[in-house]
Amino acid sequence: MPKRYLLTPGPTEVPPEISLAGARPIIHHRSPEFRKLFAEIQEGLKIIFQTRNDCLVFASSGTGGMEAAIVNLLSPGDMALVVKGGKFGERWAEICQAYGVHVISVDVPSGEAVDPHTIENELRQDSFFKIKAVFTTLAETSTGVATDINAIGRIVRNYKAVLVVDAISGLGSCELRTDNWLADVCVAASQKGLMLPPGLAFATVSEKAWRLVEESKLPKYYWSFEKAKNVLPDNQTAFTPAISLLMSLKESLSMLRAEGLDNILDRHKRLASACRTGIIALGLQLFARHPADNVTSVKMPPGIHGETFIKRAKDVYGVSLAGGQGELKNKIFRISHLGYTDTFDVITAISCIEMVLIDLGMEGIEPGAGVRAAMHVLRKGNKARNFGL
Ligand SMILES: Cc1ncc(COP(=O)(O)O)c(C=O)c1O
Repeated sequence: MPKRYLLTPGPTEVPPEISLAGARPIIHHRSPEFRKLFAEIQEGLKIIFQTRNDCLVFASSGTGGMEAAIVNLLSPGDMALVVKGGKFGERWAEICQAYGVHVISVDVPSGEAVDPHTIENELRQDSFFKIKAVFTTLAETSTGVATDINAIGRIVRNYKAVLVVDAISGLGSCELRTDNWLADVCVAASQKGLMLPPGLAFATVSEKAWRLVEESKLPKYYWSFEKAKNVLPDNQTAFTPAISLLMSLKESLSMLRAEGLDNILDRHKRLASACRTGIIALGLQLFARHPADNVTSVKMPPGIHGETFIKRAKDVYGVSLAGGQGELKNKIFRISHLGYTDTFDVITAISCIEMVLIDLGMEGIEPGAGVRAAMHVLRKGNKARNFGL
C-alpha cells in the first residue's frame, strides 16, 4: 500500500504518542484514577478554550455537541439567529428546525464572512427579546472562512441572547478567546485541532448561558448540561465516558501545553500563509475572502473536474485532500493544515496539487513554482518545533 497523507480538515492525523495513550488498559470511570484523569483534562481544556467556564464532555461527534447546545439552551417556539455561510452554519439551522425552534437566517454569500453589523441590526429589531441565541461558526470548514467572533461577542453581550460558537474545527488552530470574546457556549470536537480520533464533543457554558439552561424546555436526557454539571465537581461524567479517548486527550492536552497556545496559533498562521502563497504562485484562486488558518479553500481551475482531481491525488499520490461540499461540489477543493501538521504537510499538499494538475493537462503550471513560493514563507518564520517530545 502506498504511503498515505491525510490532509483533510477532520479527521486529521493523530500523533503516535496520542494513539498509544489510548491503547492503555481501560480504567473504571467511577475510580480515583479516572477522577485524576478527568481533573487534569478539565484544567487542560480550560487553557485551550481560554475560559474559566465549565467544560462539558460528551461521547459523540461534533454535531452531537451542536445538538446538545440547542436542546439545553432553547424551548419550543423560541427564536434563534443563525449565521449561514456554509454547510456548518446551515447545520445549526437544521437542528433548530428539527426541534421546532424558529430560525432567523443571516445568509452570508459562500466564501465571505458575516458582517457583525448585520447581527446587530437583527438584534436591534427584536424589541420583544424573542431571540434567545445567536449561532455562529468560528471556522466554516466547508468554505475555509473565519468569523470575527470577538466583534460579534461585543454586540451580543448587550442583548438577552447568548452567543453560541461552533469551534469544532477552529479550536486549537484558530484564535479563540472564549471568555475575552464573551462566547457563551463554544462547541468543539476531538478529531481536529486536538489531534485525536473522532468521538468526543465539548461544550463550554458561561453563567449567562446557564441561566438560559435553567429555563430551557426542549427534551433532553443524555445531552443534559445540568446532569453533566452536577457531577463535574466530583470529576465525573454523567454516563460512561469514552475512556480510551479521554486517555488520549490527556496526552494531547499535555503536548499542546508544551508547545504553548500562542506557538500553536503561530504555526497554523504560518502554514496557512505558506499554503495560500503556494496556491497563488500556481496561478490558482483562493475561494475564501476572509480565510481561516486551519483550511485553505481553492477554486477548482477551469477544465479540471473536481472529483477526478481529488481521486487522482489520493489514488496516485496517496494524498487525501477534500473536495467541495453541497453546492460547492466540484467547484472548490480544500487543503487542511489543521492539528498535527507542519512544514512538510504543506509542501506535500502543494507538490501533489502541482503534479495532479499537470497530469490532468492543465497548462501554465510550472513544476515547483508553488512549492518554491510556499518554502519561502515556511523558511522565513520557521521556529524550532516543540511538541513536547
Ligand atoms: C465547523 C464544523 N462544524 C461541525 C462539524 C461537524 O462535526 P462532526 O462531523 O464531528 O459531527 C464539522 C466537521 O467537519 C465542522 O468542521
